[in-house]
Amino acid sequence: MFWSKKHFEFKDIPDLSGKTAIITGANTGVSSNTTPQNKNLTLYLCNWIDWPGMRYRNGEERVPHSSLFPCSIMACRTESKAQVVIEEIQKETGNSQLEFVALDLMSLASVKSFVETIKEKHAKIDILMNNAGVMMCPYGLSSDGIETQFATNHVAHFYLTTQLIPLLQKAPTSRVVTVSSMGHRGVLSNMDLENISNPKTYGRFGHYAKSKAANILFTRELDKRLQEKGIQNIYANSNHPGVVRSDLTRHLMGSFLTSVYDTLMTITTEDGSLTQLYLATSPEVETAKVKGQYYVPFGEAGCVSSVASSDANAKELWDFTETLLKEKVPGRPQRFSTYQEHLQCPNCFSVGTLKAQLLEKELIIEQQQQEISALKASLTTSPIPAVSPGLAASKHSPNGDWANQSRVQQLHSTLATAPTSRALKKQQAAARHFTAPS
Ligand SMILES: NC(=O)c1ccc[n+]([C@@H]2O[C@H](COP(=O)([O-])OP(=O)(O)OC[C@H]3O[C@@H](n4cnc5c(N)ncnc54)[C@H](OP(=O)(O)O)[C@@H]3O)[C@@H](O)[C@H]2O)c1
Repeated sequence: MFWSKKHFEFKDIPDLSGKTAIITGANTGVSSNTTPQNKNLTLYLCNWIDWPGMRYRNGEERVPHSSLFPCSIMACRTESKAQVVIEEIQKETGNSQLEFVALDLMSLASVKSFVETIKEKHAKIDILMNNAGVMMCPYGLSSDGIETQFATNHVAHFYLTTQLIPLLQKAPTSRVVTVSSMGHRGVLSNMDLENISNPKTYGRFGHYAKSKAANILFTRELDKRLQEKGIQNIYANSNHPGVVRSDLTRHLMGSFLTSVYDTLMTITTEDGSLTQLYLATSPEVETAKVKGQYYVPFGEAGCVSSVASSDANAKELWDFTETLLKEKVPGRPQRFSTYQEHLQCPNCFSVGTLKAQLLEKELIIEQQQQEISALKASLTTSPIPAVSPGLAASKHSPNGDWANQSRVQQLHSTLATAPTSRALKKQQAAARHFTAPS
């Protein structure tokens, strides 16, 4: 990996002024020996790389341009850790547009309140980087009773992203980058979602792999659903950052083995942040219409396992996660008081197809009702003899009134195909039964 050619470098980060970026897990270990990847993500998003005296590889001096900073929201669970990073960045760069907003991905109530805070303070979001993650931790459950790795890495980010769609839609173009891993290849047969929180089937690596396959499947399905809804301005992609020297291996091995592994196998945290920075900032993503894709170091399209490239798996995961959220999110299930309210809800991804079908049916019914009224009106102005539909359809009419015969025929066929108002009410009740993220 460390020998891969760099398709994207820090100098390629464009002007991000006026943009707002959310980075989950944007803190790790500032005071530790390792250079934390997440610190770099935030710093580079802030163009911290351009501090005075720094030089590009070609020797050219980097010029500081603090006016190019985006507003960065550090979505972290521990304020004290985030504040250290914020202060450090401010000291280095003078960037005052850094904000800590509490987010604990182990709690859906926390995600909900995070989203509410963001919606109160910000009119739009340009970049959402779903970066936080845990790896190979001992079995545990989130406060919602979902297995820790699946809850943190997938479910909470799914909820966060779908809730932020309205704000992502408000930016001229926006990016969602979900950090997956090549570890997703560890899922060999199926995701076994029904047993995802079952301690008897728990495997540290197996569940990490499932959560990372879920990141890719979620991204693909999100993009598909955005396209179906005609939402074109959101570029959602996933990536593998590389095998990076970070705190992620904390549950993996002892400190000695970790340092040997880090020295021999890993890339620097700076390099590890390049691929998500490419997907989050490079203009190329838009010119090449990179959507629903999986990228690897350093900003190259990557290959996805067969499990993570299956459309059926993507749909199954989406439906499963939505059902889980309906069950777990505080205040759910939310019911809409009117069918129209449901149709207008921007977050109702699950009912997208149903909505489209119902709207289509309603239009047909409206058209048919107009036809029936027109036919009734024409019948009252020119009365016709009572004939059976069969007879009316026959070319041998008793009185040879061809105009009336065809009107009767048309009326009968229209009445036969028009759904009864009872059937329509049933469909509407079914639609109301679906819930949407609140
Ligand atoms: N490092 C690699 O080699 C590698 C390879 C492939 C993929 N990845 C992916 O890259 C991403 C970043 O990993 P990393 O290497 O930077 O790991 P890291 O140094 O351990 O950072 C993980 C970050 O996630 C945060 N986090 C964990 N649980 C959280 C929760 N419940 N709520 C909010 N934040 C939480 C951590 O916050 P705290 O400091 O509060 O714990 C930390 O800031 C992960 O998604 C990982 O799967 C990494």
